[in-house]
Amino acid sequence: MQQQGLPGFREFFPDDLALRNHIFATWRAVAQRYAFEEYDGPPLEPLELYTGKSGEEIVEQLYAFKDKGDRDVTLRPEMTPTLARMVSERAQALKKPIRWFSVPQLFRYERQQRGRLREHFQLNMDIIGEASPLADAELLAAGIDVLRAFGFGPGDVRARVSDRRLLRALLEGGGVKAAALPAAYAAVDKVEREDKKKLEAQLAKAGFSAGAVKTVLEVAQIRGLDAAKAAARGVGGAEAALAPLLEVTERVQAMGLGEFVQVDLSIVRGLAYYTGIVFELFSTQEGLRAICGGGRYDGLLKVLSGGSVDLPALGFGMGDVVLGELLKARGLAPKAASRVDVFLVAIGADDVGPVLTLAHRLREAGFATEYSLKPESPRKQLERAGGRQARCAVSIGPEERAAGTVRVRFLGTGQEEQVAEAMLDDVLRTKLEAHG
Ligand code: HAM
Repeated sequence: MQQQGLPGFREFFPDDLALRNHIFATWRAVAQRYAFEEYDGPPLEPLELYTGKSGEEIVEQLYAFKDKGDRDVTLRPEMTPTLARMVSERAQALKKPIRWFSVPQLFRYERQQRGRLREHFQLNMDIIGEASPLADAELLAAGIDVLRAFGFGPGDVRARVSDRRLLRALLEGGGVKAAALPAAYAAVDKVEREDKKKLEAQLAKAGFSAGAVKTVLEVAQIRGLDAAKAAARGVGGAEAALAPLLEVTERVQAMGLGEFVQVDLSIVRGLAYYTGIVFELFSTQEGLRAICGGGRYDGLLKVLSGGSVDLPALGFGMGDVVLGELLKARGLAPKAASRVDVFLVAIGADDVGPVLTLAHRLREAGFATEYSLKPESPRKQLERAGGRQARCAVSIGPEERAAGTVRVRFLGTGQEEQVAEAMLDDVLRTKLEAHG
């Protein structure tokens, strides 16, 4: 029987890996431009790192099992708890605010669908040790700038921003009890995807009063700063809770990125640990899930350190799956570049030795060099050079050897020249640039 890989796990053929490498390189370049340092953690973690902290949804999706030492372990479904633990371990010694990024592979047992797999890579950028909204603005700008670096503009992607503190004040002000907030958040999160009547029925069944149900649905419809201001007016605590959101939008505007940002109170985020500003980045066209999501999680380090470390924290995760689909759909995926600079051709059997000597010299000099791995006619070797989309073919025959030369054929233009063998590296260096 033909073997198959597991559903939701990807095989990266060279073209796929070229796109993945492009995504990783762009992620790292922008994170470094923002002066973030790279870290990593273990891919296998104790189960209890996630239970009770990340929220029910993610715990249901864990790849969890018992290891041979009878420990309950799981493949990491997200990076944030690992980061919080790592920082807690060295909280005293680390200079704050900590600005760290990582590109982990993550595993979630999800129902496989478009943009949702059982493994994915995620850029994580987090700031730990800073409570000011300037830090929230910094991260939001970084997320937007990552997408700009891929070639997306304000017409392509949108950052939808909210604040759980504001959401909480508005919901409580409208009759939602504190204990019912998680259920209210879950409903707000679903407002765009689920039927309104169904949501109303679910909330009523969960014990929400008619007034509280109305509040939940109304709050989830709030779009734009003016609407948020109007909703907050006169509601206890809501005006004060609006201040960070006002500051963040203003700061992002000062960076020239205001066009990308929209206040949207339907954004709550699915993970349990968020406490303040939350945001998601979406494509404006394809109806895909979020490319990126994040926010402030000021209580997580305290929980994970057993109370010994209490630092404000915030960050985002940007997945490679939705992003890769968008890059392909918009023609922004990199074209596969020619992999071979030089294909060496041995005219006769006696030329194979000199070809190997030259191949080794060219490789040492940094040229991607290939030759036939079995005896073949010169015509066949040249065909192979063409098939490999080599940039040039360099032939060695008895005449060339006698004269101390090689014959160089630039495959893009068909131009040929005889070059002194000793000068070949220099000629290739200048001509390969020139011939493109
Ligand atoms: P998240 O919203 O669960 O957040 O994931 C962030 C992004 O990762 C999503 O917007 C999505 O693009 C991608 N993603 C998540 N799950 C999958 C999947 N099964 N298949 C493909 N892509 C996926 C977090 O994980 C937070 N820990 C982010 C964070 C960092 N918050 C603060 N710091």
